Amino acid sequence: MVIPQYDHQRKISSDYCTKAYACMARYGYARVALEEPIVDIFELPEFNDPTLRTIFQFCETWATSAVRVLENSFDNTHFSFEHRSTFGVAASLKPSRYELIESETGVHAETVIDAVSPEKFQRISGVKEALTTGHMRNAYYLPFSRCLDIECPSGVRHITVN
Ligand SMILES: [Fe+2]
Repeated sequence: MVIPQYDHQRKISSDYCTKAYACMARYGYARVALEEPIVDIFELPEFNDPTLRTIFQFCETWATSAVRVLENSFDNTHFSFEHRSTFGVAASLKPSRYELIESETGVHAETVIDAVSPEKFQRISGVKEALTTGHMRNAYYLPFSRCLDIECPSGVRHITVN
């Protein structure tokens, strides 16, 4: 350890230090683990797929906990009212059933939801019907990461990573 302002023979106190944290960078983001568990950022093969486009969306602060954010991201009961102006189907109040697969790294949850497909979305999704479905593959990775892959019947996919 060197302190440039100190004479090179001056003893440096042992309590002049800061704790080091594990950090990993991948997919254009850095994640710092303040404590255990220290795990790799999950594999996302689609990130390097030249047929897909990556869009770095927004970064904002939410006054909540990471657990609440993840809970919400797996809750498909809110689509019919919270996402009514985009893809939610107001008449589909009952959530579709998730198939859950647990692993050492997290949980994979899969379901098919009803989805509205307004004309402006149809140009992107390739879906020609006003009412369609979305095949959701929602994966949770320890400690606080999520990857949601929504596939339209046309095969167009929208993958969101949180
Ligand atoms: Fe939502």
